[in-house]
Amino acid sequence: MTSRRDVILVTGATGRIGQLVVDELLRVGADVRALTRRPQEASLPAGVELVSGDLTVPTSLDGALAGVSTLFLVWTATPAAAHAAISRLASQIQRVVYLSAPFRTPHPFFQQPNPMRDLHAEVEQRLVEAKLGVTVLRPGMFATNALHWWAPQIRQDDLVRWPFANVETAPVDERDVAAVAARALLDARHVGGDYVLTGPESLSHAAQVHAIGDAIGRSLRFEELSPDEFRRNAEGAWPPGVADMLLSAWHAALGRPAYVTTTVREILGAPPRTFYRWAGDHASAFAKDRS
Ligand SMILES: NC(=O)c1ccc[n+]([C@@H]2O[C@H](COP(=O)([O-])OP(=O)(O)OC[C@H]3O[C@@H](n4cnc5c(N)ncnc54)[C@H](OP(=O)(O)O)[C@@H]3O)[C@@H](O)[C@H]2O)c1
Repeated sequence: MTSRRDVILVTGATGRIGQLVVDELLRVGADVRALTRRPQEASLPAGVELVSGDLTVPTSLDGALAGVSTLFLVWTATPAAAHAAISRLASQIQRVVYLSAPFRTPHPFFQQPNPMRDLHAEVEQRLVEAKLGVTVLRPGMFATNALHWWAPQIRQDDLVRWPFANVETAPVDERDVAAVAARALLDARHVGGDYVLTGPESLSHAAQVHAIGDAIGRSLRFEELSPDEFRRNAEGAWPPGVADMLLSAWHAALGRPAYVTTTVREILGAPPRTFYRWAGDHASAFAKDRS
């Protein structure tokens, strides 16, 4: 186990997973330092040491590294910046838990060419070259994507318009991802672990929307959009390429159940949270706009 005096550095600490990793680590009394490019804007719990740093500016990381041997790494910057940053981090750090994606998993959903798989492959390669003790986490679709994808529509109306009603995924609750990350950060026996993390069940897009409706006590309808309608809606609203990346993964996965693992249960000793439970716990995000 990591000794109480070791400081764990959490990158992505203002993001969706990193924030929850910070919470998990604080809960067990670990010493946590959180990295952000904008400490003045970050709102993190008391007890966290907030440090400024940018992964694309390696010299800016030095102040964050004193006394740190273990790192939670979230990488959303360009792949080109990974080599320099990881070399700098490896001058101090011995162990890394890296938030990657299941691009090595033999299921068509995860096998479509896209820039994210290239990014994660590059970062993983650099971590190996730096001879760090690495644990790789490979969550499938985050349940929390529903907040971005569907909550704005559900706040307006009882209708969700989205492509591929029948395509199945196994959304993983971000709290389960964070809990697995914390276990791996705190226990060096997870070095070498390569964990594909999914939710407990394969659910179609339409079933996920209906599960949200059941959890919030509303009868939601699903109307299927064509890929072209979806692309048009995403234009300008989403970063370029994201809509096509999703459409190709969904198209490839049509007609087969989602890839479901038991890894969360094996590591946490408790079943992963269901999507229905996730939706109930986030009900306020779907409540109808009163304006
Ligand atoms: N969405 C999914 O379904 C899914 C599934 C599997 C894997 N993933 C992976 O999950 C990762 C994203 O995790 P997330 O959703 O928790 O993140 P997020 O909410 O998108 O937040 C991004 C975080 O990265 C930090 N960051 C960005 N650029 C930085 C830089 N140059 N230097 C230092 N920090 C930087 C940001 O911190 P500041 O802005 O405070 O600096 C922020 O905390 C991605 O790598 C993605 O591929 C996502």
